[in-house]
Amino acid sequence: MKIGEIDKTVSEMALEEKACFVVGVGMPGMFGNPPSRVPGAAGETHSIERFGIPSAVFADGPAGLRINPLREGDEKTYHATAFPIEIMLASTWNRDILEAVGKAVGEEVREYGVDILLAPAMNIHRNPLCGRNFEYYSEDPLLTGEMATAFVRGVQSQGVGACLKHFAANNQETNRMFIDTIVSERALREIYLKGFEIAVKKAKPWAVMSAYNKINGTYCSQNKWLLTRVLRDEWGFEGFVMTDWFAGDNPVEQMKAGNDMIMPGRTRQIISWRKDEVEEIVSAVKDGNLDEEILDRNVKNILRVLINSPSFREYKRSNSPNLDAHAKIAYEAGSEGIILLKNDGTLPLGVDAKVALFGTGQIETIKGGTGSGDTHPRYVISILEGMMEKGFRVDDKLVEIYKQYISEMRGRDEYRIRRGLLGEPLAPRLPQDFLSEEEIESFAERNDNAIIVISRISGEGYDRKPEKGEFYLSDDEVALMEKISRAFHKRGGKVIAILNIGSPIEVDSWRNMVDAILLAWQAGQETGRVVADAIAGKINPSGKLPTTFPKDYSDVPSWSFPGEPKENPKKVTYEEGIYVGYRYYDTFGVEPAYEFGFGLSYTTFEYKNLQIETLSDRVRISFEVTNIGNFPGKEIAQIYVKAPKGRIDKPYQELKGFHKTRLLNPGETEKIEMEIDFKSLASFNGEVWLVEKGEYELRVGASSRDIRLIGSFTLIEERRYNP
Ligand code: BGC
Repeated sequence: MKIGEIDKTVSEMALEEKACFVVGVGMPGMFGNPPSRVPGAAGETHSIERFGIPSAVFADGPAGLRINPLREGDEKTYHATAFPIEIMLASTWNRDILEAVGKAVGEEVREYGVDILLAPAMNIHRNPLCGRNFEYYSEDPLLTGEMATAFVRGVQSQGVGACLKHFAANNQETNRMFIDTIVSERALREIYLKGFEIAVKKAKPWAVMSAYNKINGTYCSQNKWLLTRVLRDEWGFEGFVMTDWFAGDNPVEQMKAGNDMIMPGRTRQIISWRKDEVEEIVSAVKDGNLDEEILDRNVKNILRVLINSPSFREYKRSNSPNLDAHAKIAYEAGSEGIILLKNDGTLPLGVDAKVALFGTGQIETIKGGTGSGDTHPRYVISILEGMMEKGFRVDDKLVEIYKQYISEMRGRDEYRIRRGLLGEPLAPRLPQDFLSEEEIESFAERNDNAIIVISRISGEGYDRKPEKGEFYLSDDEVALMEKISRAFHKRGGKVIAILNIGSPIEVDSWRNMVDAILLAWQAGQETGRVVADAIAGKINPSGKLPTTFPKDYSDVPSWSFPGEPKENPKKVTYEEGIYVGYRYYDTFGVEPAYEFGFGLSYTTFEYKNLQIETLSDRVRISFEVTNIGNFPGKEIAQIYVKAPKGRIDKPYQELKGFHKTRLLNPGETEKIEMEIDFKSLASFNGEVWLVEKGEYELRVGASSRDIRLIGSFTLIEERRYNP
């Protein structure tokens, strides 16, 4: 079938065929459904042989392709690369890296026989406890949109599709399938939709996945305003929309709203009161409750995309993507996303330094989160393995103690590794304070430095808790840190904390006990190598925070999270409006532990020569960044704009541009030039996007609170833009 033949084909399709085509085949390999052509893929569409329409395969996810690595009766393996989690990819602020990761994932998608990757996930970090924040980029919509754009371009350059998800305002896991998000249109458009808008317009994704939740009373998948008016009519989206898995409660409303495809199909297999979607659609057309033209439109939307898919083109998959090359890209992405939060001169360490490694996370290093954002790589390099491989003089005796401790504890029922919903290993957190004061003293005697690994894992289906052992360090972690800090500092040794986490934790109460903090996030299969090279200075950390680390959970503005009633929330009201993340902390004078955009380096950068030129619809700015330290490094320069006081209340400042420099050697300068459209300064006033007149302050910074250059430009007249 060619693109010009779609209309004719659809006109010849029987009603039942069309209804079948817009509903997936059911969760492949579960509830008695046949496994997917690609075992482990999340969904598949129906084929219609008499028109030569093949089935298409959809698979997760944001940190790499999620398919089963092993197949019954098959000696071959089907591993996919585990890249850093999205929050870490966003910490790179590097569009080129995101595109390179997208390309690599896209090649794996294609070569393993998948048509559409169910990524990127791009919900906003409204609250640090959302269980899937690791799968999302940032608290800021511009950074989110730019990262997603680059990633989608990379994926789709490989002849396969990307699917933006979860559209929209899906910012928590608690009761995610039913929760009603009550949010103003302004906050929705400026914060929660903006990233999607950027990526839809710039990257032209093949698909968008509507979210589970309701927005102001209507399920996203049944929301015509969201899926048709905003997505298609305003933004010009030309792909197709699929539901999240088993989302919504009314397939006919989904069809009408412009939710073209229902995934994975056969919802009644998990929700007993539901009827068969195909039958419901067929009878709605027959009864006159659904105009057949709407069904036709949806079928065409899907066909126009899938006609370019590998399955349609009969692409011969090799099942052998270039995993070695992709491992290098995963490492590179990790090396650009690792963030140095604190350093009093301790780091980098020479590789000949004697180090005592504490924390079970050195061995049980976490590569990423659980759920559909999980991956099945060939290997995961733990922090211990990374340190050994890079030649550090790691205290063997202590390593032995940790190995024994872990194996003994995991043997106990309480700490046994269990399997989650998707078969993923779930390991209860092990108590960390099992070494006596004397033992730690003896290790401080034998070593120059202590490294303590703090790990957290989170995942789909549940939110994190504002409790010890989760958002806060547990008592046993604090006790261990106190002992280490005392013993090593007494002897002039240094203590380094490595955070192997997927989302912010509290750091303010304990950071004084350590001399350096490296935020390693969860860097996928190469985690240990990235950490070791950053400690050794082979990598100069150049990541910056895409999300605020608040001092305390009580400082977080989204206090209504995860909704009400508290025991079993039905709705969640976004009372903070547009004041999400730094927009809140900056405007209301709340000091975070580490602000948005923060990250140190082993070198120092100087900013100078800010030039601003006002054009008819935008400003052109330039400035210079010079490496004035002794270490080669990269800097992420951020442009914030502070609007004049007008009729609409505005946050103190908002990110409007950013640029990551190339690797600058000591003494080297890069001139940075960029443009900011006036349109991007607009606020939504309920009807139009409005840019008020007056003087705008342009703030160039190394973080949102480390502003190095300030200039301004003036708008003589206000500007209005239709949505
Ligand atoms: C998740 C999606 C995912 C889908 C298929 C859902 O539970 O919310 O992100 O793509 O499952 O695995």
